[in-house]
Order: sequence, then C-alpha cells, then structure tokens
Amino acid sequence: MGGHHVSAPAPLVDRFGRVHRDLRISLTDRCSLRCTYCMPAEGVPWLASETVLSTDEIVRLARVAVEQGIAEIRLTGGEPLLRPDVVDVVARLARLQGPAGHPEISLTTNGLRLPGLASGLRDAGLTRVNVSLDTLRRDRFTELTRRDRLHDTLAGLAAAKAVGFAPIKINAVAMRGVNDDEVVDLTRFAIHKGFQMRFIEQMPLDAGHTWERSEMVTGEEILDRLAEHFTLTDRAGRGAAPAQTWWIDGGPASVGVIASVSRPFCGTCDRVRLTADGQLRACLFAREESDLRGLMRSGADDDALALAIRACLGLKQPGHGIDDPSFLQPERPMSAIGG
Ligand code: 5AD
Ligand code: SF4
Repeated sequence: MGGHHVSAPAPLVDRFGRVHRDLRISLTDRCSLRCTYCMPAEGVPWLASETVLSTDEIVRLARVAVEQGIAEIRLTGGEPLLRPDVVDVVARLARLQGPAGHPEISLTTNGLRLPGLASGLRDAGLTRVNVSLDTLRRDRFTELTRRDRLHDTLAGLAAAKAVGFAPIKINAVAMRGVNDDEVVDLTRFAIHKGFQMRFIEQMPLDAGHTWERSEMVTGEEILDRLAEHFTLTDRAGRGAAPAQTWWIDGGPASVGVIASVSRPFCGTCDRVRLTADGQLRACLFAREESDLRGLMRSGADDDALALAIRACLGLKQPGHGIDDPSFLQPERPMSAIGG
C-alpha cells in the first residue's frame, strides 16, 4: 500500500487459461541463407532500419515482460547472430529479474556465425541453442539454402558443443522429395555427435505463400521411417513444449517431432512473439499485432506497456486454424515473425 514495491503480478493468462512464460524475440529479419521454404532467392523487402528496435528498446520491453511473468526468452530472426551486438543483448537480457528470477535465454540460429560467437554468448549467459539443419549433403544444402555453407553450419554445431551448450538441438523441416530420405541419416548424425534431433512439419509461413498440405511430411510419416530403424519409446513430460520426444533404443539419445500442423499443440501454448520492428504477436499465425514500438516511442510508461502485452494476449485465438477453410496465412513470412 502506498509504496511502489508490489508483489508478483497476476500471471500472463489469456481467455483460455493459458499462462504465458515464453517470449520469442526476433533480433533482425535479415538472414545469411535463403531457405526455399522461407524466402525467395532475392530475399524479401527488409524492415526499414528506423522501425527496427534498438537494443535499449528490446531490453526495456523484455524487462516489462519478465516482470509480468515471462521466464524464458528465445532469440530468433531471420538470423539472430547477424545482429552486431547480439552478445550484449544476451548479457543484458540474462540479467533481468522477474518473479521467478532471471529468465533463461536461448537462441535459434542457422549456426553460421557460431564459431566466432559461441564462447562470448555462453559467457553472456546463453544456455541453450537450436541449430537449423535440414540436410547433411552439401549439394542439397546449397540447393535448399541457396548458399554453399553446409561446412559453416557444421562448424557452428561443433563450436556450440565445444563451449558446452546443453542440450544442443538440431531442427530440420521435413520436405517431401527434398530431404525426407535423410530422416534416419540426420538422426544417426545427431546421436553420434550428442545432439537432439527434431523434425518439424512444414507450416504455411513461406514468403511466396506456396505451401500445400499434401507436400508436407507429417510427424506420423517421420515416426514411421524412424521406427524402421530404431526402437522408439515415448518420453513423457512434454509440458508446453511443441516437440513430442521419443527415446531412441532406450536412450539416452532422443528424437523429437514437432507436428504443428497435423497435431496442433495450441492448447498448451505458452509463447508470445516480439518482431524485430516491435510488434507483439500472440501467435505465429495471429492476424493482429500490437504495436509496442509505437506505444514506446510515443512515451508510454512501463504500466501502459504491460497493459498492452496483456491486451494482445486477450486477442489470442484457441488454435492456429490451419485446417479451417477460412484460414489465412499471415502476411509476414517466418523470417519477419521469428521462429
Ligand atoms: N515451417 C516450419 N518451420 C520453419 N522454419 C522456417 N520456416 C518454416 C516453415 N515454413 C524453421 C527453420 C528454423 C526455425 C526458426 O523455423 O528451419 O528451424
Ligand atoms: Fe534464414 Fe531461417 Fe528463413 Fe532459412 S528459415 S532463410 S535460416 S530465417
């Protein structure tokens, strides 16, 4: 009463009772690769630089979100390691303090810059990394990403391991006739190196809006392929995690399947996303964004920002509705939303 030291605020809950603890922050929409399922060869129109949040702005929004109950921050892109001050961003975010203590900071990356950055990121407080890698074949990698850089991604994975990140996950988007014959090879590679392999169903988030459900390799197909070579046992305790994970041949290695489309996990979603230009999205597939950048730049105080975060969650739909006839793909591609 009277003082400004208040007890922990109410959880960040939406209309469906989902408590939000995970904030994904896109640090840039730019990328050093051009994955065909994400971007056209020439890239996409980049965000105007004056709309991209400064590091002070990112840290301020993250601080407000952490004070409201966000306990985990995942940095994404485009390619987050293209942000020149990414190590400083991590260091400042890792020092934030909420009702549950410091947030855990993780990163999703294509790995190209990890050889130079991994130890700095670890020292800054990053704990976990996910590296995107869809193929182990150089010619395929070059075709799929339009850059001949398989070697650099592999070097990035090795660097992540050398500095002690744990766990290190590899994310692969499974695509019919493109890399679906590598499900077992990728899994063996991950087992051999001590990484956790995770396969992701392709979602309608490409810049060209060419996604077709029939082209998507389902989680079930992936599991069927794996089951021909490994004994898989359900690893319980999924919580709000998108991946359903399986022990391989009794463990300790495991493999995950993220069946976002065929088996949506929206009911336990605890995620909210901040784009590089400061728009808050309650869902990858949200049709509305909340303009936190505009609010902040017009002088809003922290309480107003906290209210705006809650209002955004108030618009969150129960599910992505990809199977609904009225489904509309979001206008922004994945690279501009953040993974
Ligand atoms: N569907 C599923 N995953 C995607 N990613 C990028 N675009 C898509 C899509 N359309 C993945 C990347 C990376 C993460 C950020 O999201 O491969 O692992
Ligand atoms: Fe870059 Fe990720 Fe898009 Fe590939 S999927 S082009 S790595 S942002």
